[in-house]
Order: sequence, then C-alpha cells, then structure tokens
Amino acid sequence: MAEKKWWQKSVVYQIYPRSFCDSNGDGIGDLNGISSKLEYLKELGIDVIWLSPIYQSPNDDMGYDISDYRAVMKEFGTMEDYDRMLAKAHSLGLKIMMDLVVNHTSDEHPLFVESRSSKDNPHRDFYIWRDGKDGKAPNNWGSSFGGSAWEYDEATDQYYLHLFSKKQPDLNWENDAVRKWVYDMMTWWCDKGIDGFRMDVISLISKVPGLPDGEVGKNGYGIFSPYCANGPRVHEYLQEMNREVLSKYDLITVGECSGVTVEEAKKYASSSGEELNMVFQFEHMDLDGGESFKWNHDKIRLTKLKEVMSKWQTGLEGKAWNSLYWCNHDQPRMLSRMGNDSPKYREASAKMLATCLHMLKGTPYVYQGEELGMTNYPFTSPNEFRDIESINAYRELTEKEIFSRKDAFDYISYKSRDNARTPMQWDDGPQAGFTTGSPWIAVNPNYTQINAKEQIARKDSVFHYYRKLIALRRQYDIIVYGDYGLLLPDSEEIYAYLRTREEQALLVVCSFSEQETVYEIPGRFAEKSGTVLLSNYGRKEISAILTLKPYECAVFLYE
Ligand code: GLC
Ligand code: CA
Repeated sequence: MAEKKWWQKSVVYQIYPRSFCDSNGDGIGDLNGISSKLEYLKELGIDVIWLSPIYQSPNDDMGYDISDYRAVMKEFGTMEDYDRMLAKAHSLGLKIMMDLVVNHTSDEHPLFVESRSSKDNPHRDFYIWRDGKDGKAPNNWGSSFGGSAWEYDEATDQYYLHLFSKKQPDLNWENDAVRKWVYDMMTWWCDKGIDGFRMDVISLISKVPGLPDGEVGKNGYGIFSPYCANGPRVHEYLQEMNREVLSKYDLITVGECSGVTVEEAKKYASSSGEELNMVFQFEHMDLDGGESFKWNHDKIRLTKLKEVMSKWQTGLEGKAWNSLYWCNHDQPRMLSRMGNDSPKYREASAKMLATCLHMLKGTPYVYQGEELGMTNYPFTSPNEFRDIESINAYRELTEKEIFSRKDAFDYISYKSRDNARTPMQWDDGPQAGFTTGSPWIAVNPNYTQINAKEQIARKDSVFHYYRKLIALRRQYDIIVYGDYGLLLPDSEEIYAYLRTREEQALLVVCSFSEQETVYEIPGRFAEKSGTVLLSNYGRKEISAILTLKPYECAVFLYE
C-alpha cells in the first residue's frame, strides 16, 4: 500500500470569502471576518481551509477573474490582513489552501492589457489570439457563460479565446514563458507559507491544436470540452508544475477537472505523486444535467448516484485518491437537491447526506453552511440573481425562447450558483449576523431557524453531528483506508455500503426516502455483534432487520 499522507486523513472546509463574514459593515465578507471565525472552524474540527479567490479582481466572475495574483482584493482587506489570518490559522493548527486560477486571467491583468495592445507586443503570445474566419469567430465554440468563446478586438483585428466570460481571457499554456510566470507566482505563495492549492478548471489548460469546431449544442454554439478538457499536454504541464513547484513543499493539491474520467483521474491524481493529490470530478453533479446544459428541475435518481460514486470509489482504489463533495460555490445546496429542505426533515436529511459522503473513501470537503444544513434560496425574481452565469443564462434562454420565462426562472432558481453564495447564517440577528450593513446578496430568510449560534447551543444539531463525524475520522483508520463495496445497487431508497479493512467492517446505511423503509442486514453480519458508531435518530442497537425512519442513517462497526 502506498505511503499514508496527512491530506488523506484531513477534512477540508471551503470558504467563499465574499459571503462568509463581514468585519467592517460594507456588506462584503472579508479577511478579518474570516480571522474572527477561525475558532468556530477549529471547534468544528476541520484541518484545512480552502479559500475561494481573495486576489485583486474586477469581480466579473466574483474573484475568478484575477488582475493581480500577488495582491489582496481591496474589498477583502490588505496583505497584512492576509498574513495575520494565515498566522492565526496556523497557530490553531489549521492549514490554508489557496485557489489557483490559471486557465485564464482577468482582461484587466497587466499582461492582457499588454497582450492586446499590439500584435508584436512581447506578451501577445501569452493569450490565445486568432484571425477570424469569413468575418466570424475563428471557430464555433460557445463560452461556459453564454455567447461565443471568442471576443473580437478591433485594435488588432483578431479574436481572443475565453472559455468563460469575455473578461476572462484564456492563457496560452503552450508558451514556456506563461508556465514559468505561473510557477513563479505559485512559488511566491508557497514561500509565504500556504499549505496547498485548489486548481481552478485545471483540466482545460491544454487545447487541441487547430481548435476544431465542436458539435453544436442547444444554444447554437459548438461544445468546446472535447477539445479542451484533458487536452493533449495537460499531464505534461502538471508534471512540470510538480517538478518546478509542488514537489518542493508539503502541500495538499486538488485539481478541479471538468470532463475528467476515472482513467484520466488516475493520471492527474496517481499515488505515484507526479501530478496532484486528487481531483474534483463532476459526474455525480452532472447526473441531472441534460440537453440544456444544467438548466432543468430534474431529480437525480439514487441508483444513478450510487453507480457513479461506486465507479469512482472502486476505479481509483489503490491507484489514486478521491475527493468527496456534495456542495461548493458552483452548485446549488445538496440538501435541496437530494435531501429534504422542509422544516420537518431538514436536519435528518442533512445529517444523512453528511454521513453518506464522509464515510466514503477519500478526502471530504464541507462547504460553508453545509454544516448547519443551509438550503437553497427562495428566489422570487430574476433581479435577485447576482452570478454572471445565472444572469446570462436567463437572458439567453428567454431571448432565444429555449424556455418560457417561467420555466427559465424556475430552472435557474433551482440550479443557480447563487444558492450557495447567500451569506453564512451566524445568528438570528439582522442579516444573520453576516454584516451590520446591507449584504451584497440577499440573506436566506430561514436564518431565524437555521444559524450557527442556535446550533452550537443545541447538542443534537447538524453542527454537532458534523463535529462527531469529523472526529470519528481521526479515531478510526477504517474510515480513511478501508476498501469500499456497494450493497443494494438497485434500491431507489437506500444507499448502503461497506468499508472493510483486515478483520474490521463498517456498514453504512442511508435512507434517501421520506417514507419508512425496511433494511435487512447482510447475512454474514446478522450473527456478529456490532456497535453503532453514529446515527441521526439516536439508534442504540442493531437488529437483523431495520425499519429506517425517513432519511435515517446509521454506521455500524463490526470487529
Ligand atoms: C471554476 C470555478 C467557477 C468559475 C470558473 C471560471 O469552475 O469554480 O466559480 O466561474 O471556474 O473560473
Ligand atoms: Ca467587508
């Protein structure tokens, strides 16, 4: 077995700084706000904080468009605030993982400003410039945020590529100087003492030469992913990055890899350690996608979810390492997606989802507010959308009459990234204790029922359940290292699986149903005496036949 690593035993907590905690009343979360909540995270028991981008940015895509990689966004504070936050985190034993956004920069980055200034500027080739074809864009690719992936630039009569917004021009990774520039910047942060990188859309950095047209999707544009995701040189680049930077420090690294398959993941996250520690795959998140990208209101079938999770669990076994997530700043709240966010079942289903994820093999990620059972936001008008993706999608879907206004609003309300970005609910005071001013995005009105203060004070809260779950990981190696095996693949109600290690076995049973369901313990365990490690309904004993309450979960240990 490969050598054991600290990041395999860790739990990561993602902070979306804009929405976490505002220290100065301007309605925008900031670094001093984060510093003031580190004790809260320590109490939760997590090991690593992943910070969504805190760099200088015009905020076209909320910090994922960076104009200075060595400066802090003004709204978030100063570099001194950052250094204080980092030092305090370290003094509490918490590590800091930075978001690394290097598929693209902001169009306001000095390099792009130079690059676009003339065809013979020394930095021209830092980005991807092409001539038009017959007065149109160089190819038919659509951007992830709607419209063409190419923007015409009059000054030099060429187009530049942007897989995301036109304020996010793609860097040209084929240029050696670009890669060196990236590695220098990474080294600068590592020398500051940071503990890792989450690499934004890193699977897209190498494009197929010739940039061929893609198959046309419902919005009339070509789909770029077959020519950008896991491109021809991506592993070469990451191995180089590993040699030049990553291998020189003791870091946790995770690549956000849209379009990644199990086979590709074995290269990105191989236990031989030549590239990254792990990847974020999207297959389970895309199960309710479809013809119109992700815009629909479809439910994910549990059998499909189990199939995908199990494929990744067994596919990477012994070869690479999984990252485990239900939520992040790009996804609606899982509780509103696969759980039940009604007051009656909210807490039970939040605990069940947490158990189901954290008992799998891999490094679990908790997204801010998930540990409280925060839910999707009840949008009442398209004017409430703040995210460029939602705003553009609403415009495009209604203008092209792909959906009626009503359906477009319904689908986007359900899937919008803004669902994850409403302010963290700290207490039941004004604006949920997030700010003393007026927040940049509306607070979910359910903060009077769902907030950290109330949950910390109540022993059976979702918060304390997460604490137990995280603590168990430290106590039982089987949770970290045990082999995974799926039970009951055909059940649409129950996700049951085993983790096994030498003589030990862990049986994890999670009901995704609002009805009572019956579960029969596998025969070989019926004789053995097991203990209940965790239960969301206070179950004390195991019986051969279990009647599971709505959204009940339980973890049994057999030794
Ligand atoms: C990643 C980020 C997302 C961002 C996109 C472009 O998917 O998680 O928030 O919009 O990359 O940088
Ligand atoms: Ca602020």
